[in-house]
Amino acid sequence: RELRAALAEARAAHSGAVRGGVHRVGMVPTMGALHEGHLSLVRAARAENDTVVLSIFVNPTQFTEAADLAAYPRQEERDAALAAGAGVDVIFAPEAEEMYPAGFATTVRVAGPLTETLEGAARGAAHFDGVATVVSKLLLAALPDAAYFGQKDAQQLLVVRRMVADLGIPSRIVGCPTSRDPDGLARSSRNVRLSAEERGRALAIPRALEAAARALRGGARDAAAVRAAAEAELAAAGIAAEYVAVVHPESLEPLERLDGTALLAIAARVGGVRLIDNALLGEP
Ligand code: PAJ
Repeated sequence: RELRAALAEARAAHSGAVRGGVHRVGMVPTMGALHEGHLSLVRAARAENDTVVLSIFVNPTQFTEAADLAAYPRQEERDAALAAGAGVDVIFAPEAEEMYPAGFATTVRVAGPLTETLEGAARGAAHFDGVATVVSKLLLAALPDAAYFGQKDAQQLLVVRRMVADLGIPSRIVGCPTSRDPDGLARSSRNVRLSAEERGRALAIPRALEAAARALRGGARDAAAVRAAAEAELAAAGIAAEYVAVVHPESLEPLERLDGTALLAIAARVGGVRLIDNALLGEP
């Protein structure tokens, strides 16, 4: 109710400045512990909208490991300051009891290979059920004109696009490029849990993506050969990947040959921290 009132007020207070008279609301859903990757989404939203809503909710239903949920970093005050600095107008930070009151019984499930492969296989079906359910609730709460998601979580972006199309939620879904630290590591709220030594080893993940792209440029067309180039980088750093997959960038079906674009997706545990990263290969 508070969120809707704030947005109604914003819409009433001024007609849109960004585009001819239509007030636009952009939303950036997050689980907090904000970093530059989140802020890059906020900036994309800021550029295209009059009002920017950031949601912060560590969604318990998408965690399939209790320890991961318990260890998830929480830093509300720092987040509020970073959000304000990046131009967020409204922060929506509900309690778990508000999102899932007693008697809550609805699950939004995107079925099929989009949710059964990669992260769905590694973390269990409950993960994307939790994501699809909470994102549909967040979008329905704010009804933004556009919502911004990172390519860092490529499969999540595809699941959200499918869910929004299937349910007819009237928000445009915008995918934003992966933001990386200067050393190449994809920014993630979980990176703060890496020791200095683990962080050094984790750099094998972006190196693996680069090695695969190099193999492709060097003429490799077999997915197995491209995958092997990536796996060699990980093995050299002593990282046992959960998966290194070469898949179709939209259907996520496994590819054997790389003729068009492909998504290379990696999940690996470094120390106790589970990291994911990906790259689009063969982009023109
Ligand atoms: P969270 O991991 O906090 O990420 C929030 C958004 O930021 C997601 O769209 C994610 O893809 C994006 N993001 C994270 N790291 C990024 C990076 N390095 N570069 C670009 N974008 C990045 O993803 C979630 O939260 C949750 O699953 C959520 C969608 C909020 C549902 O609970």
